Amino acid sequence: MTVEFTLNGRQVSAPAEPNTLLLDLLRDHFRLTGAKRSCDVQVCGSCTVLVDGGPVSACTYLAHEAAGREVLTIEGFSELPEFEHYASAFERHAAVQCGFCTPGFLLTLKSLRDAGDLETEEDIRHGLDGNLCRCTGYRAILEAARDIGEVAA
Ligand code: FES
Ligand code: FES
Repeated sequence: MTVEFTLNGRQVSAPAEPNTLLLDLLRDHFRLTGAKRSCDVQVCGSCTVLVDGGPVSACTYLAHEAAGREVLTIEGFSELPEFEHYASAFERHAAVQCGFCTPGFLLTLKSLRDAGDLETEEDIRHGLDGNLCRCTGYRAILEAARDIGEVAA
C-alpha cells in the first residue's frame, strides 16, 4: 500500500506495509534520522514526532495512521523561524548533553507551547513526563523549558 501525508510541510507518498512503523518509514525511506529508536515500547520519547501538532511515539505509531495528516520531525522543525527560540534556550542552559533525547524534548515542548500548555512549572513537568534523558539529569532541560515557556522559576 501507499501512504500519503504531509511531511515537514511537503506532500509525500511512500510504500508502507500495514505493519510499517512511522519511525521506520521516516528513518529508512525518508532518511530523517532525528527521531531515534530506543525503548521501542512508547516509554522514552526519543522517537517523538508531531502528528497534527501533537506528540506521538513513532516507534509504535503505524505509518498508515499518518495518512492525510501533518507530520513534523525535528528536521522540519529546525527549518521554522520559531526554532531559534527553542535552540537558543537549550544552548543557554547547556540542555543538550548526548543529544539522543533532544529532538523529542524540543518537539514535545513545541507541542505544549503551541497548545498553551507551557505556562506553569506543573505544565512543564507533566508535559515532559514521557521524555526520558539518560545523561546528567533534567535540571538544564527544565531550565530551558522554563525559558521557552517564559515560566518564572
Ligand atoms: S523509542 Fe519510541 S518511545 Fe522509546
Ligand atoms: S541528552 Fe538526553 S539522553 Fe543524553
